[in-house]
Amino acid sequence: MLSPFGRDLVAGLSATPRGVSPKYFYDAEGSRLFDRICDLPEYYPTRTEQSVLERHVGEMAALAGRGAEIVEFGAGSLRKARLLLRAFDAPARYVPIDISGEHLRDAAALLRGEFAGLEVRPVVADYSQAFEPPPPAGPGRRIGFFPGSTIGNFTPDEALVFLRRAAGLLRGGALLLGADLVKDPAVLHAAYNDAQGVTAAFNLNLLARANRELGADFQLARFAHSAFYNAPLRRIEMHLVSRVRQEVNVGGERFLFEEGESLHTENSYKFTVAGLRELAQRAGFRPGPVWTDPARLFSVHWLHAPEGGNA
Ligand code: AVJ
Repeated sequence: MLSPFGRDLVAGLSATPRGVSPKYFYDAEGSRLFDRICDLPEYYPTRTEQSVLERHVGEMAALAGRGAEIVEFGAGSLRKARLLLRAFDAPARYVPIDISGEHLRDAAALLRGEFAGLEVRPVVADYSQAFEPPPPAGPGRRIGFFPGSTIGNFTPDEALVFLRRAAGLLRGGALLLGADLVKDPAVLHAAYNDAQGVTAAFNLNLLARANRELGADFQLARFAHSAFYNAPLRRIEMHLVSRVRQEVNVGGERFLFEEGESLHTENSYKFTVAGLRELAQRAGFRPGPVWTDPARLFSVHWLHAPEGGNA
């Protein structure tokens, strides 16, 4: 019996062109590598978003109001959640939603120790699919938090579906959303082709994970990290490109890679402020304040959810 990763990888290797969801990057090793990416000199998004949040968290707290509940999509960014929890006025509850139960339990335990009186209620779910939210914590607003430009992993259609669901879930509250901005392709290129090769290792870890978890026989040295900016589609694409003609076995099936053939592992869409606001509006949000850094590398959006009551 194959795991969801196994099933999706076999399906993705059987498709033309070949591709697999970037959500499978994040096993324990992948999460560790991603944390290292966030500290790289070339990878500006994490530190830029952090600085925008720090500078404007007071305004965000005022918009959230007293006794708000923070619902975070993904739980990889405790540092950012902490910043909000410290600044908000008596937050009632923190609800991190993540597919990795292990990651969630650790995150929850840490925060419970730090914020006495805060209810921490992790939800193990794939937030890119429909899921059942816990009932609201109290009279405060429900504030969704989706930092890091993780929304960029969705295609525009998927982003719209996600935002529509979020709008329903956050009724009467708001979504605080981080979105990386369109910019000089050279800056984008460097961020995904770092000098230390950490992004390459992160990309290749997908194959290492398949070897560990699925008994696959990928030889990592036979695949090359490739990341480039697709300007017409406004996205960074990451691929693993076969350096030679070779066969691999995954889940009891054999797959032939021609020399130069690629497995598409990630899209990371970049946005304009106006484009993101328009997308949010189409999903039912009323765009509020937008904050950016002085160089306009990254944007943070306050998106008012539809009013409460029945959908
Ligand atoms: C976590 C999806 C926002 O797209 O920049 C970093 C993941 N991939 N380097 C991004 C990633 C390669 C990251 N996101």
